[in-house]
Amino acid sequence: MKEMGELHDAVSFIGRQTSIRPTIACILGSGLGDFADEIESGVVIPSASIPHYPVSSVQGHEGKLVFGSIRKDQRTSRPLLVFKGRVHFYESGDLETTLLPVRLAHQLGAQTLIVTNAAGGINRRFKAGDLMLIRDILNLTSLPKKDHTRTSHGRGERTNRLFDPVLQDSLLSTATQIGLHLQEGVYCWLKGPSYETAAEIEMLRRMGADAVGMSTVPEIIEANRLGMRVVGISLISNLATGISAAKLSHAEVTDTANRVKASFTNLMREFILHQ
Ligand code: HPA
Repeated sequence: MKEMGELHDAVSFIGRQTSIRPTIACILGSGLGDFADEIESGVVIPSASIPHYPVSSVQGHEGKLVFGSIRKDQRTSRPLLVFKGRVHFYESGDLETTLLPVRLAHQLGAQTLIVTNAAGGINRRFKAGDLMLIRDILNLTSLPKKDHTRTSHGRGERTNRLFDPVLQDSLLSTATQIGLHLQEGVYCWLKGPSYETAAEIEMLRRMGADAVGMSTVPEIIEANRLGMRVVGISLISNLATGISAAKLSHAEVTDTANRVKASFTNLMREFILHQ
């Protein structure tokens, strides 16, 4: 299969650049890339140098893979691979391309995936700048197709529990320990790239969505298929269309991310140090 050959090329290339074998991988969403700077003296590989690696065209997605550990006081985390920037499905329209980073992380040894994103808040109790534990997902796309859902470990075609409850609890207790209020909710994936209409948001609200975005779900499904443990965090970067009267822009998404960067970093750092 072409994809397997490409994955192999990418893995061998990375294997020649670093001997670090990550056990945790972390995909950073829009505007959240600065968390990668927490890795001290990490090995940085520009994604453009990796064979077959997709290039993101979206502002705020830098395109770097950072390998290393987080250190604080006397504590050192397990080895990490942080993806600074992600490639959205809408950029290529090709799921294989979108899934390469997760497959790469898995091949390099990661058993845990932390996915993050910026999302529009639908739940009326949310405000821009809140962080939300992704409790569950709503997938209203027709993706992935059947051949992407076949498990490699015979656990059935699709698990209905996509998130690891132990990791979810650990994230919630970390937030409590650092005095951060973490919202919880359902993340709905739409393909994008355009933002939703007010009528669409009202429909999603009635269906039970708390937040909406254009990413993350394909990575979550693939990570499950590969047997990885998954936890997800959304930054509510704006209130979705119609929930707020303001016109949406990508600049608002990155501005909010800049405002809450410090809390996000703190949460991620402490959570990862606990693993
Ligand atoms: N809608 C869809 N995707 C998003 C939004 C939104 O309001 N904000 C950030 N990503």
